[in-house]
Amino acid sequence: MSQPTRRQLLVLGLAGAGMTATGGAGLWWSNSGRTFGGGQKLLQPEMLTSTNGVLQLALEAAPARLEVGGRTANLQAFNGSLPGPTLRVRGGDTIRVQMTNKLQAPTNLHVHGLHVSPLDNGDNPFVSIDPGDTFNYEFVLPADHPPGTYWYHPHRHGHVADQLAAGLYGAIVVEGPSPIPVSRERVLVVSDLSLDASGNLSDVTAMEQMMGREGQIVLVNGQISPQLSAAPGERERWRIVNACPARYLRLSLGGQGVRLLSFDLGQVREPAEVTEVELAPGNRVELLVDTRKGTSTLVATPVDRGGMGGMMGAGNDQPNNSDPVDLLHLDVSGDLAAPLPEVPAGPALRDLRNGTISGRHTLDFAMGMSGGMGNGSGGGMMSFTINGRAFDPDRLDTAVQAGGTEEWTLTNSSFMDHPFHLHVWPMQVIQDGAGDLTEPTWQDVVNIPARSQVKVLVAFDGFQGRTVYHCHILDHEDLGMMGTVEAR
Ligand code: C2O
Ligand code: CU
Ligand code: CU
Repeated sequence: MSQPTRRQLLVLGLAGAGMTATGGAGLWWSNSGRTFGGGQKLLQPEMLTSTNGVLQLALEAAPARLEVGGRTANLQAFNGSLPGPTLRVRGGDTIRVQMTNKLQAPTNLHVHGLHVSPLDNGDNPFVSIDPGDTFNYEFVLPADHPPGTYWYHPHRHGHVADQLAAGLYGAIVVEGPSPIPVSRERVLVVSDLSLDASGNLSDVTAMEQMMGREGQIVLVNGQISPQLSAAPGERERWRIVNACPARYLRLSLGGQGVRLLSFDLGQVREPAEVTEVELAPGNRVELLVDTRKGTSTLVATPVDRGGMGGMMGAGNDQPNNSDPVDLLHLDVSGDLAAPLPEVPAGPALRDLRNGTISGRHTLDFAMGMSGGMGNGSGGGMMSFTINGRAFDPDRLDTAVQAGGTEEWTLTNSSFMDHPFHLHVWPMQVIQDGAGDLTEPTWQDVVNIPARSQVKVLVAFDGFQGRTVYHCHILDHEDLGMMGTVEAR
């Protein structure tokens, strides 16, 4: 695509709006009534790179006592670090993970966005690893796998939001065939969590689950408002992952030149200047930052993703995201760097609109009353359904022809946005909440705004097998907003 989509691009001039509010940066942990400063140097997760076409590693999901904002928190982590290691591979590589569950609940591993087989010990969301057990995964990337920033996280139904909120996630980088000239690259994994005064994860209320929990502390690579520095005239490549269970991130970085290089997967043809990008839970973005002298803040401004409307009784019906959050501070000073070569144009993107459609499906995302609502005081749960049904791992919801291209209409009859995610096969978004898209736009998570609809085209090629699609507000997924799809 030559232009970012409307959703990704806010008209110039509005960008400053979020920049003036400071939102009490680095002063979270508000539920304990104490404040914590940021200002540490940004750390990069450990990077594990494939050699001779193979990346082999052991991943242990375990309770971890880690420092957050200068205090000790009782979290869960992969290999004891927040985030887990970054896995760096290229098309054609094989990733082998020996995954051990040292948690007290079942878990498993999902490689979000990777175009790999969903069968057996591949990216199989139906696997369950019991506490104390080990499972050996193997993910074989096709040679022409799209480059981009992906990520991994547990996907055991019923435990997904809890385990992400506790700290279990990490980035995956798939390198492209031709490198982009940059001064440096940074992986920025954004997550959120709530801790009580003694550093334990806060309990989550039924209402927070129904809304989609948003943590009171927002972290970048496990740090609160870390500090980055660069020289003017440099070009950085930021790979940003939204690993929050439910929080949307509307990001801006005033005072710097920012271009969109990639959204979820692949690479845009010509990176264009953006003032704001919006990431639903699960989305990733790669930004080119052309540095300019001064100090800039990466701010996440609140996103209105709807509420429970009049469906519940009285009480808080909005997520607690009303304040802008300072994610990190970039200090650009010193001598002007030598100029870098231009960013070469990427290859033209595949456009499925030129082909034949082998099938059509409509999926409706709905929230309704379930049994035992009681007096509406939050004691009962709403139902979260797709086409009127809650998730059943043994039921096949959508059968598709392997190798065919389908048009899916995703409708949302509820009062809240639901970010739709399909495993294994990326989606070409042809209509979003604002209307038809003209340029080929590929994503693996697409937001379906409340009371709205979205259309996508999916080429079910490369692999056969059964996997899932779901709302990436992970509380909703755990509450049943997930279905199964089989390509055969
Ligand atoms: Cu990021 Cu099905 O998940
Ligand atoms: Cu996924
Ligand atoms: Cu949802």
